[in-house]
Amino acid sequence: MKSALRTLVATLVAGLCAGGAQAADQVNIICSVQAEWCNMIGSVYARTTGTRINITMKGSGESLAQLIAEKDNPKTDIWFGGTGDPHLQAAEQGLTLEYKSPSLAQLYPWAQQQAEQAKYRTVGIYSGPLGFGYNPELLAKKKLPVPKSWADLLKPEYKGDIQVANPASSGTAYTMIATLVQLMGEDKAFEYLKVLHRNVGQYTRTGTGPIKAVARGETAVSISFVHDAPQERMAGFPVETVTPSEGTGAEIGSMSIIKGARNLEAAKKFYEWALTPAAQEMAAAAKQFQLPSNKNAKVDPNVPDFKSIRFINYDYAKYGASNERKRLIARWEKEVNSLPR
Ligand code: F6P
Repeated sequence: MKSALRTLVATLVAGLCAGGAQAADQVNIICSVQAEWCNMIGSVYARTTGTRINITMKGSGESLAQLIAEKDNPKTDIWFGGTGDPHLQAAEQGLTLEYKSPSLAQLYPWAQQQAEQAKYRTVGIYSGPLGFGYNPELLAKKKLPVPKSWADLLKPEYKGDIQVANPASSGTAYTMIATLVQLMGEDKAFEYLKVLHRNVGQYTRTGTGPIKAVARGETAVSISFVHDAPQERMAGFPVETVTPSEGTGAEIGSMSIIKGARNLEAAKKFYEWALTPAAQEMAAAAKQFQLPSNKNAKVDPNVPDFKSIRFINYDYAKYGASNERKRLIARWEKEVNSLPR
């Protein structure tokens, strides 16, 4: 009896020790894409590898602010998604780790270029064009035309009916400012933004807020990434998109490993997985329709057709530079956001 008990205790102790020795890997992720995608990759990766995944969701600008605040004691291992400019800024500020993935050659040139420009402290994981979202039913009710150009958005009839995010928290809105500066020259772009300000009903915290408001009939027009519309349409909302005739910019959504990550080896494994075609195809499964950066990932028919869009030659290095981004956002706060509407 005694010996049976001893055996049982020994077995339990051995089990506990083995459990301890194989303590699950953990990865702490800041995720700057929509919740559906963050949750999908988090739960699939956790289930298939046994890794514990902790996810915090934040917009691109807010994520950068958190990483700056945590600099001396990082609590994050991976920053997944969000526009590329703040990832480049984080790289320049030494917040992210240099890491050259063996899968780089499988990625489109724009994604590889993002990595090179950051001295391999980030990498492109998707891309998507900036444009306008609109609610055709609301436009018809208000007898407003579909805006086709940046110039159209300044027409007084859209007063109060346009939403865009705040560039301090949102990478989408910063992409808009950088796009306008490249299209028009800086001073003209700021004159443009001041007039646009009169038509803006609300500046939201996140970049996807405005297109959700359009879908729900709370505003007629938004300045948004066009890949964020199909999900709303699939949910039954009336929302269409257009890209401006003068030309537009595109984001290079990025991923970075945090310098000083406490779970570095597990973070690298997750990073490699996130670059695989199978992982990238999960975006569409979660109804997110950015263009995947891995050339072998299937492109869902809902992904915007890049060939039909007029793009500017967006200077990612220049507009992702720390001083430039800070300066343009500060100028927008001072000269635009402070104006009455
Ligand atoms: O997740 C949708 C998305 O549009 C991404 O493509 C983009 O990187 C991100 O949102 C930007 O979010 P925000 O403007 O809030 O930083």
